[in-house]
Formats: sequence, structure tokens, C-alpha cells
Amino acid sequence: MKIAIVGSGYVGITTGTCLAKLGHDVCCLDLNRERITMLQKGVLPIYEPGLDIALNEMIGSGRMHFSADTAEAVQGAHAVFIAVGTPSGADGSIDLSQVFAAGRSIAPHLMAGTVVVMKSTVVAGTAQSMREIIARERGAFDVRVASNPEFLREGSAIKDFMEPDRIVLGADDPYSMKVLRKIYAPFVKEQAPIVETRTINAELIKYAANAFLALKIGFINEVADLCENSGGDVSDVARGIGLDTRIGAAFLQPGPGYGGSCFPKDTRAFASTGREYGARQHLVEALISRNDERKKHLAQRIIREGSLNAGQRVAVLGLAFKANTDDVREAASLSIIPHLQERGLEVAAHDPKALQTASEHLAGVSLHEDAYDCCRGADAVVILTEWEEYRALDLRRLRGLMVGDHLFDYRNLLEPSAASEAGLRLVSLGRVSAAPASRKGVAPIGSWDRRVAAPEHI
Ligand code: UDX
Repeated sequence: MKIAIVGSGYVGITTGTCLAKLGHDVCCLDLNRERITMLQKGVLPIYEPGLDIALNEMIGSGRMHFSADTAEAVQGAHAVFIAVGTPSGADGSIDLSQVFAAGRSIAPHLMAGTVVVMKSTVVAGTAQSMREIIARERGAFDVRVASNPEFLREGSAIKDFMEPDRIVLGADDPYSMKVLRKIYAPFVKEQAPIVETRTINAELIKYAANAFLALKIGFINEVADLCENSGGDVSDVARGIGLDTRIGAAFLQPGPGYGGSCFPKDTRAFASTGREYGARQHLVEALISRNDERKKHLAQRIIREGSLNAGQRVAVLGLAFKANTDDVREAASLSIIPHLQERGLEVAAHDPKALQTASEHLAGVSLHEDAYDCCRGADAVVILTEWEEYRALDLRRLRGLMVGDHLFDYRNLLEPSAASEAGLRLVSLGRVSAAPASRKGVAPIGSWDRRVAAPEHI
């Protein structure tokens, strides 16, 4: 089928490339001509593992095109996907101006039978509003608008598209549903679960899914706090509850608070939609403020437990909102670092992929290409992103480079015993902290180990 995609950002390029992999003829559209010229050459404006290879393969196959000309991209298309940005508005509701502008720009070029498919994450009722906007532009034209939300995680977007947990097809008329089914026909053969429903439900599914996942993270973060104060270990607790198939093991990893381009924005929009429709989402409203507070609280914890004073140096390892991406949108680093700087601390930072993107948001931070260089002379080190290379850090070497001995592992990547043997004071989340092993055979004491000692004779 011939498919046009309006918006060549993260979702547009990934979706376009994967639809071409399914065998469709795809044209990605963007008003930014420079971006289109780069994409035509196979150069990506974003980092996503495997996407550059897949994109170049698809360009080579002749099924993937790019254009800055709306008429050229849209004319003759069986479906036009809308994959433009939906930023947060001032009050937390989402700003749909780009979505509706895209609708108005494609309206004159739609053929009878072209289905407009909403891929951007939008609030309940947007497909209907889009229908009305296009109808206003085209008069008596038979407008078809469907909804097909994406569930792509940055860092594993291609896998998420090609091996989906489910595909949600939202349509309010049989023809649009038929077109959606045809686009996703290869998945029907592979028996991927497909949810066929009305557009309003498809829109609600996307928000409810993200809000629920964010709630899981918020929940385990609070359980981690409880484990820590009571002497428990959150990894055992998470495993113990996650094995219950009704709960599931995913998204039970404590951290410095969720970030990224979706969860913070989508939870705010979900709460705002709840208020608009008179069905307040109290749980999600509480989650939003708890998540913001967590980032501040964890910044204060570095200063307090590290006994840090103005002028001392903190090395931050990890700026991206999670591993395998260069994205720093609403990353914990962007809350925690300014907080440290406000208290007069000097901050050095490292990230394997996100130095460039982070430099646009952080001032006065010395950025390092090498993690060990970053930690040289540090009074405390903080891990904020779960990059594999941090898990493999040579802790003795790290300790040798540091002035202080505090290591705040806010992703629980390191083994307390290894940190302790390397002479580090490890503060992790939801488990007992580890003091440096001072003398061989002497167990850590005091507040660093709140475990109850076993009786000597059993
Ligand atoms: C998310 C959804 O997972 C995806 O389905 C949707 O389409 C877009 O939003 P993404 O933002 O790429 O994807 O990242 P995700 O892997 O979901 O992580 C979001 C945030 O939660 C990150 O900051 C991550 O570090 C944090 N997280 C995730 C945790 O703190 N603990 C977990 O157990 C999982």
C-alpha cells in the first residue's frame, strides 16, 4: 500500500521504516527541508539502535522516500499517518496545534478513500475533532480518520514495532478498519494480538497504558523507600511480586523518577483529560507530583549523605532519561544537576550518547567523553542512567581517582559487596547501603548496615 507519514521525527521515521519493512511504499514528509535532505541521504537526526541500518536498507529497496512537499507525499496515498509532536501545554493539557495544522495541510490533497491515521499521542476525542477540521477544509468530502497509537520505547523501537505485544486499530467505519487491517496484515499472519475498537477507545488505551506503567514505577519507587527504611531489599520484593502474573515483572525497577518524552507528558495530559471530563484521575495526579518530588529529594540526598559543601565536586554518570538513547527530555539529570549547582556544587558529567543533547539544556557543567575522566577529583559520584558501561566500571580504579568515597547508584547497577571492597560508600535505592570495607573480615557497622545480626548459635 502507499503510505504517507506527516512528521519525520522519532515516531515518524521509525514507523515509516518499519512500514516499509512490512512491504509498503512509504513517503515521510517534513516541513524542515534540511532534515529531509539529510534523510534522503540516509542520515538520521536522532539516535535509535538499528534504525540507521534499517532506514538505509529501506531506502536501498526503493520503498522509503522523503519529501518536503505535502502534495507530492499525500496524493495517491491509501493512508496518511499523522506523526507530529504533541507537546505539553502550559496547564499540563496537550497542545494539539501541530496535529490540526497537519490535518489542514493535507486536507486539499486527500483522495476519496484515503484514511488519515492518528499516530501521534492524542487525547480522547481528537480523531473526531480532526474529522471536523478536514471536513471544514473539504466541504462535502467523505473524511475518514482512524487511530493507531504507537507503543514504541526509545532504544528498542524497531523491536517494539516488529514484535508488538498488541496492535490497536481504532476506526469508526468499516472501510477505515479494512485499510488498517490491510496495513497490518503481516502481523495477522504472525498472530499478534490485535485490538479492533472505536477511535475514542484507541486514544484512551494509549494514555491509560502509559499512565499505568508510570504508576508501576512510582509504586516501586515508594516501596524502595520503605525497603530501605525497614532494612528490606527492593530487588527481592520486586521479584516476589512480579512473579504474580496479575502484576508482571516489568517496570518494577526503582530509579530516580521516570522521565522521557512520553510518561511525564502523557500522565499530565491524562490527568488534565480527567479533569476536563469530570472524572479526576487522583492516582495519576498524585504520581505526577511524587515523581517530581523524588528527583528533588534524591538531589538533596546526595548533598546530605555525601556531607557536601559549596565548591565540592560531584561527577554525574548518565544524562539520558534512560539507557540506549541520546534523549534527555525530562531526564532526572536535568532536575538533579541544577539542584546541585544551586547549592554551589561543581558538576562534571558523562554520558555515552547524550553529551551533545544535554549540553543544550545544562549550563556550567563540565562534560566528559570518558567516565573515569569525569570522576577524577570528585567528592561524590552519582549514577543516573542505567548504561551497561557503568555496570562494568572498575570500581577500584574509580575510587583511586576520586577524592571522596560516596557513590550514589540511583539505578542499582552495582553490587554492594564489590563497591565496599573497592573502598566506596555505596548508596543504592531500596536496599541497605554499603560502607567501605575498612579491615578484612570486619562487617560494615552502624547506619550503613541495618540488617539484624544472626544469632551466633543456632
Ligand atoms: C514509553 C513507553 O514505554 C512506550 O510504550 C511509549 O510508546 C512511549 O513511552 P519510553 O519513554 O521510550 O517509552 O521509555 P520507557 O522504557 O518506558 O521508560 C520511561 C521512563 O521510566 C525512563 O525514565 C525509565 O528510566 C523509567 N523506568 C522504566 C524506571 O524508572 N523503572 C522501570 O522499571 C522502567
